[in-house]
Amino acid sequence: MNTLDTQSFSSLLNIAYLLSAILFIFGLKGLTHPKTAIRGNLLGALGMAIATITCLFDQNIVSFQGIIIGIGIGTLIGIICAVKIQMTGMPQLVATFNGLGGAASALIALGEFFGKTSTNATLSVPVLIAIIFSAYIGTVTLWGSLLAFGKLQGLVRDRNIPGLPVINLLLTIGVLVLGTMLVITPTTSIMLALIGAATLIGVLFVLPIGGADMPVVIALLNALSGLAASTTGFVLSNNILIIAGSLVGASGLILTFIMCKAMNRSLANVLFAGTQSSQNNIDSDDVYQGKITETSAEEVAMLLDGVQQVLIVPGYGLAVAQAQHNVRDLANCLEKNDVNVEYGIHPVAGRMPGHMNVLLAEADIPYEKLIEMDTINTRMEAVDVAIIIGANDVVNPFANTDPNSPIAGMPIIDVSKARTIVVIKRSLSPGFAGIPNPLFAADNTLMFFGDGKKALVELVAAVKDQ
Ligand code: TAP
Repeated sequence: MNTLDTQSFSSLLNIAYLLSAILFIFGLKGLTHPKTAIRGNLLGALGMAIATITCLFDQNIVSFQGIIIGIGIGTLIGIICAVKIQMTGMPQLVATFNGLGGAASALIALGEFFGKTSTNATLSVPVLIAIIFSAYIGTVTLWGSLLAFGKLQGLVRDRNIPGLPVINLLLTIGVLVLGTMLVITPTTSIMLALIGAATLIGVLFVLPIGGADMPVVIALLNALSGLAASTTGFVLSNNILIIAGSLVGASGLILTFIMCKAMNRSLANVLFAGTQSSQNNIDSDDVYQGKITETSAEEVAMLLDGVQQVLIVPGYGLAVAQAQHNVRDLANCLEKNDVNVEYGIHPVAGRMPGHMNVLLAEADIPYEKLIEMDTINTRMEAVDVAIIIGANDVVNPFANTDPNSPIAGMPIIDVSKARTIVVIKRSLSPGFAGIPNPLFAADNTLMFFGDGKKALVELVAAVKDQ
């Protein structure tokens, strides 16, 4: 190729990257509303396909073979995950993806570092700084995400390590010193020491964080994986990686703050308060003994006869029971009797952001019927019957009344103001936060024990029999 050809080719590549960036932005915009979400997803995927194909022609980056092998392996893993992973396992999957993203960034940075230093090639200071950031953030993301996976999967327990803030401070100072040394003398041993410190920081940063705060940690790790990708873009001088990484980093950070707000916590409190807040030792017997009123499908059907306003509050148990279509059946029956049925959606109900929205959308429940927590709380007094299906923490009044509770300060869907509350769950077992729920023992609460799906099938039959 002559010089002009090379220039035009390079311009074409940049135009393709620019097009991908525009598609990413429109894709993200589409994802902000369920009606446009599918289109948004497709636009984002198209952007990624263009970016990937452009990379195939951008010989400065990697070889054709490497990319094709990578696409093959990635496609296979993607298909297996899409088919096998249940909705309830989504946070673990997201944690794994975040970790892999961090690992990829760190490996590229390290490959560049060791490749250049082993041949005594010079690395410019800006590139060296980008390599150090990418290797550090990528490694922290990898180990933090692996630990988050272990916690969500119930393999690792929350642990408070004495003197942890001091250890973390010392490690951070160590990383700063090692990073400065690397810029002055880029040697293998210093880089390995930095990776070791980053590994420790990744583990120690997630280890003490309370289980109920895991959603925030996952969102933050997602932001970090984006940041790592973005710095890797600087290492490779690849604009699309810088842009895509920044979009992931920024959206992950926005989600992190939205979730902190939903839990009425500051990010610093989530990250550094440790697990001391979960030391409340409230005995479930003290909360429940002699105060639980059981009910049956027939009794609930009678209760629903002639009411005007029913609120359904879905939670994690609904996803476990896969009872979303049965919820829709119940709503259809009630609506035929002129009952207005709405759904109260808590931002952290279930196990992933938007979990309940996705679940209910699967059953074609109209989006307008899904009412956000703050709005529904203002209308609670007009609710005749609130039916809680597989939700627990998100309706637990201890969030407001017990400052030692792991969910202290988290806003809840305040169903206690509804005239009658029906709770569908299998037992009095706690939810994610592991604490009893005084709502179940309230005077206006009836407990309908059973698997969510089975209970709803019985309830729909009983309503139809009326
Ligand atoms: P949880 O508080 O976790 O309660 C779920 C309840 O569902 C359990 O008490 C369980 O009681 C019941 N259940 C389980 N399987 C069931 C089935 N087959 N049929 C009927 N009920 C069933 O759920 P929540 O109220 O949705 O709160 C979510 C919690 O998860 C919060 O603490 C939140 O911080 C945390 N979290 C959220 C996310 C995101 S981003 N949404 C991510 C990770 C963690 P039984 O065993 O008695 O049936």
